[in-house]
Amino acid sequence: MTRVNVKVDGTAYSDDVEPRLLLVQYLRDRLGKVGTVIGCDTSNCGACTVLLDGLSVKSCSVLAVQADGASVTTVEGLSGPDGALHPVQQAFHDHHALQCGFCTPGMMLAACDLLRENPNPSEDEVREGIEGNLCRCTGYQNIVAAVQAAGAAMSASSGGAAESAVADSLASVSAVEASA
Ligand code: FES
Ligand code: FES
Repeated sequence: MTRVNVKVDGTAYSDDVEPRLLLVQYLRDRLGKVGTVIGCDTSNCGACTVLLDGLSVKSCSVLAVQADGASVTTVEGLSGPDGALHPVQQAFHDHHALQCGFCTPGMMLAACDLLRENPNPSEDEVREGIEGNLCRCTGYQNIVAAVQAAGAAMSASSGGAAESAVADSLASVSAVEASA
């Protein structure tokens, strides 16, 4: 067993885990973060995507011990402390960017990372940014529209800096962590 200290969605955890335990298994089976889903066994689908210190990773391809000392954001930590939807969540809702919803948690977290790097992506840039996340239902068009709309909304609300808006929304998670 190896001790792992990690903050997940604003809460600090300290657990002994098997060194081979995958982060996605730790999140789901130990912490009950079942919003992070498993869609394949080939690290191909992206359904398990989370943010690890702000960067999107496929949590089925990361060991839990590799998250030691890090902050993880799952879909369950995206909304604000008051329950307000994150702009990416709101845009997915507004643009009907999901059908079965299985890909949606990973898709939204990949979008957060994309918008952090590129606040106003073109359609092609969105498609490239989410190419590691597969959707079997939507045909992607509404997802692309939602990601662009989220970037525009965050830019508008932050005076043209969607990157800082994403950082601010993730900082709200950190604020909860600090008070936990
Ligand atoms: Fe498919 Fe992780 S479960 S990439
Ligand atoms: Fe069903 Fe994307 S909404 S897989």
